[in-house]
Order: sequence, then C-alpha cells, then structure tokens
Amino acid sequence: AVTPKIAPSMLSSDFANLASEAHRMLDFGADWLHMDIMDGHFVPNLTIGAPVIESLRKHTKAYLDCHLMVTNPLDYVEPFAKAGASGFTFHVEASKNDWKELIQRIKSHGMRPGVSLKPGTPIEEVFPLVEAENPVEMVLVMTVEPGFGGQKFMPEMMDKVRMLRKKYPSLDIEVDGGLGPSTIEVAASAGANCIVAGSSVFGAPDPAQVISLLRNSVEK
Ligand code: DX5
Ligand code: ZN
Repeated sequence: AVTPKIAPSMLSSDFANLASEAHRMLDFGADWLHMDIMDGHFVPNLTIGAPVIESLRKHTKAYLDCHLMVTNPLDYVEPFAKAGASGFTFHVEASKNDWKELIQRIKSHGMRPGVSLKPGTPIEEVFPLVEAENPVEMVLVMTVEPGFGGQKFMPEMMDKVRMLRKKYPSLDIEVDGGLGPSTIEVAASAGANCIVAGSSVFGAPDPAQVISLLRNSVEK
C-alpha cells in the first residue's frame, strides 16, 4: 500500500539557513525534504546544485527528494549521488532518448529514480518508464509550470493522477505546485500520496499543523 510522504519544498526556505530550515521542517513532521534543482535553461530560473546538496547532507540523514528541472539530467547523476541525494527525479521532456540509461545509472548509483512531467505533457509519455523492466519508482505530476514557487494549483492535472492511480495501485505518485490546505483534498482523493508543499508550509503561522493536515488528507 502507498504511504503518505509530506515533502516541504526547500525552495521556499531561507537558503542562507538551509540546515536549520531543514531541521525545523523535520521537527514539524516532514517525511522528505524536496530539493528543487533548476538550471536556468530547462526552466527560466536558477536555484541550487550538487554542492548545496552535499553541504546539507552533512547536517541531516533525511531523505533528500531531488527534483531536477535540468536539460541534461544524465550529467547530474554522478555528482548528485556523490553529494548524497536520495531520490533523483528527472523530467520526461529532458530524457526522450536516454531514459533507460538514465534510470539504470540512477539505480546503480544508489538513488531512487522518479520521472516528472510538465502540465502540457500528456500522461501517456511516462507509461513506458513505469512499465519498463527497470522502472522508475515514482511519478511526479507537476500541478504548476515548473520554475517558481507560490503559483496556483492546476486542478485539471488531477486527471493524470487518477489515471496513474487506476493503472498502478502501488506506485508513488507525487504532486508539486500550489498544494496546501485548500487543494490537498482534490489531490489526495485523486490518488496522490507524496505531497510537495512550499509556500503553504513555510508561509504558515504553524507549519506543523499544515504538515499534519496534509498527511491526514492522504491517509483518509
Ligand atoms: C516549482 C517547484 C516546486 C515549488 C512548489 O517549479 O518544482 O517544488 O517549490 O512551491 P509551492 O508549493 O509554493 O507551489
Ligand atoms: Zn519541485
């Protein structure tokens, strides 16, 4: 059975105090820390890379759920493995021809492979990666255009989540973008079990309460 994973997006944290922000989220009940890697090319924004993951890894044993919004994900496998990444989620739009090699390399480097898709990408494009002999272990359905935190949740993406959940009852399905108390019900009832939340958690007066609300919605 799928279990809830609540993953605060560290994109909404104070990057100058990343270790203490991470500890704070884990104390508040976070399961994973979602790390948004943007290369300024695949998306029009630039964030952090392997050196920052390596620094954070020295301060925590937590599961680092790395979401790579980059044009050449293969180039990042070895640096991210060395840095201590736990999950390595690449974009299907950036791996049209080499996803088999990519999944194999991610696994052989001891990380957990996931695939993500942008709002405009049809869900069918990830089916071969889930059904492969050597499959991805998670699908991340973007519920905003990747690039920035604080955007509005796109409820029409729930068709993708429902279709995935029906086809793959035990798959980890992650949603990312605009998740919070007002959108979690629709995402959880569609079948998402891994919930990324940036601004709704970091911007809340009581982040622990938001994290437990998100978890309870997935559990029921
Ligand atoms: C967007 C990132 C998200 C983002 C989510 O490109 O992939 O992880 O930080 O932030 P919120 O929850 O604020 O939409
Ligand atoms: Zn993300």
